[in-house]
Amino acid sequence: MFPTATSLQLFKNEVFLVTGGGSGIGAAISKRLGREGAKVLVADLNEKSGRAIADEIAARGGEAISTRVDVADEASVQAMVELATKTYGRLDGAVNNAAITHPLALITELDYATWDRTMKVTLGGTFLGMKHQIQAIEKGERPGAILNISSGASLRALPYLSAYSAAKVGVNAITKTAAMEYASKNIRVNAICPGATATAMLQGSLDEGFDLKTFGIPLNRLGQPEDIANAAAFLLSKEASFITGQCLSVDGGTVI
Ligand code: NAI
Repeated sequence: MFPTATSLQLFKNEVFLVTGGGSGIGAAISKRLGREGAKVLVADLNEKSGRAIADEIAARGGEAISTRVDVADEASVQAMVELATKTYGRLDGAVNNAAITHPLALITELDYATWDRTMKVTLGGTFLGMKHQIQAIEKGERPGAILNISSGASLRALPYLSAYSAAKVGVNAITKTAAMEYASKNIRVNAICPGATATAMLQGSLDEGFDLKTFGIPLNRLGQPEDIANAAAFLLSKEASFITGQCLSVDGGTVI
């Protein structure tokens, strides 16, 4: 069984936004933040799924709103951040989770448009998110925490996913850059590298013939979105106030 956690109200009255919050890992992180007392903006390209998660948080006594965002579009990202600060008066942290993968393909068979789109959403979206989130956090003159969702694909070779892997290596790089640039402002920036986690994205790759056996997960089960949310809650919380610039593998031991 995957672990569940009781609420410690880790984020009472703090304001967070989560991109790609309507599905999978982003939804689990949004719900966890809501359960821990945060006010959450659930942002997703799919407006309906983002709204459903915000409604679920509210139905369980939490506080949440939702919005449509395209993380590859700077005006849209800016509007998302402004919505959080206008609604709740501040921003304490953010999770850049939205990403896309691409059809499994050898490098010689991957078309450039697919490469480009994957980079734009998966790496560019994380850059744009941090750019505007950090500006908003700085205005509050309080400690802040950013979490980028990277991937085990940034740490070990995943054949047929070259653009996705390269984008995630980039996510690790800009996580570390941002951590260095904003440490003096007490804004921490970390990443999680999930292993194979049971979501729609993983199912898509499995449907295409991706072989899970290549992972050989030592803990012998798939990750659940809640496993990632547990680590996210820790890294965003004051419990991790001396941790910045790290990429934490949450993968059942896949990368050791
Ligand atoms: P998912 O496909 O279930 O959720 C992704 C969400 O992002 C969806 O709600 C989608 O609508 C949204 N999204 C896509 N493009 C967007 C855009 N341009 N703007 C805003 N939102 C957009 O995927 P999952 O598995 O929950 O992935 C979440 C994160 O975890 C991603 O960064 C992914 O790369 C990463 N990850 C997932 C793994 C897995 O095995 N599921 C393994 C390693 C990393």
